[in-house]
Amino acid sequence: MATLDDMWLEDELGISVPLVGAPMAGPGGGRLAHAISQAGAFGMIGVNQTRPGDWIRAEASVAGAAETSYGVGLMAWALEAAPDQLEAVLELQPALVSVSFGAYAGPVARLRDAGIRTATQIGNLTDLDQALEAGVDLLVARGGEGGGHGRNDIATLPLLQLVLDRTDLPVLAAGGIVNHRGLAAVLAAGAVGAWVGTAFLGCVEAASTPEAKQGLFAAGQTGYGRVFDVAQQVDWPTEFGGRAVANDYFDQWAGREDSMDEAARAQHRDAVAAQQFDVAHLYAGEGVADLTRETTAADVVAEFSRALRRRTPGQPAS
Ligand SMILES: Cc1cc2nc3c(=O)[nH]c(=O)nc-3n(C[C@H](O)[C@H](O)[C@H](O)COP(=O)(O)O)c2cc1C
Repeated sequence: MATLDDMWLEDELGISVPLVGAPMAGPGGGRLAHAISQAGAFGMIGVNQTRPGDWIRAEASVAGAAETSYGVGLMAWALEAAPDQLEAVLELQPALVSVSFGAYAGPVARLRDAGIRTATQIGNLTDLDQALEAGVDLLVARGGEGGGHGRNDIATLPLLQLVLDRTDLPVLAAGGIVNHRGLAAVLAAGAVGAWVGTAFLGCVEAASTPEAKQGLFAAGQTGYGRVFDVAQQVDWPTEFGGRAVANDYFDQWAGREDSMDEAARAQHRDAVAAQQFDVAHLYAGEGVADLTRETTAADVVAEFSRALRRRTPGQPAS
């Protein structure tokens, strides 16, 4: 059914590579967003529940330097306790604002009234109905392979197919897309582009410690669940777990989160302070093994842009 305008990102956001650097609270501040947008894709600032509106203003001034276009990603569940986040974004008028994970209809209505394009991440078909009702401009079909928080109900490819069959809105695919091969696949399926987080985690512009980046370069498997939220006593709604690099601490507590006590929390806190990643968390998606060394955001965008090269019929993209 999709009669998609497959140039939506290019037309609406003025970018040349149909790739959005997903909002990532922590690694994804203004510097990473700026570098991604400067390279021809579209960068977004990730905002966690603790950030005041002034933090968003400061990061936006970095992302938007030299009139560079950027977006902001808010967490819907956090907005009630942090209303100044939405106020800051309404004032800044970024080119795109995503509001995901929780009750986002009200914030989306205010953003739309202010003339700001909106997106939300959906993880199953109930989410799709809610997003259509809220009237977002852009859908992100985010499969369970994705890094950070979200649902683990449906994998990216089946979710993308189900969503594309049910809407004429532009759809981005997210979750486990780490290079030009994945981008080519979702464009062929009918997505207008990809919403990519993990592939940017090793960038020099990502606001992570060198130790965290080394942990990602050494990583293999990921795990999904609530261990690290319970360890940090973060108020994420329980329906949204997180996907992170699987480590000893995750393996020890997965499925036993109710038993985590102050000693377990202190062990995690100390490991975060010491940047020890056999215990501390590293949020990342299933494609994390593709990260092997530090690169620039421009390198990553250039690699993805290989998906756009014209292919000789019958020959694989390479
Ligand atoms: C470290 C990290 C932090 C994230 N923080 C946010 C966030 O603040 N807001 C948000 O909407 N999504 C967040 N996400 C989810 C991403 O927007 C996106 O859905 C995900 O990265 C896509 O999957 P991929 O990592 O396999 O590319 C985060 C993901 C990661 C890896």
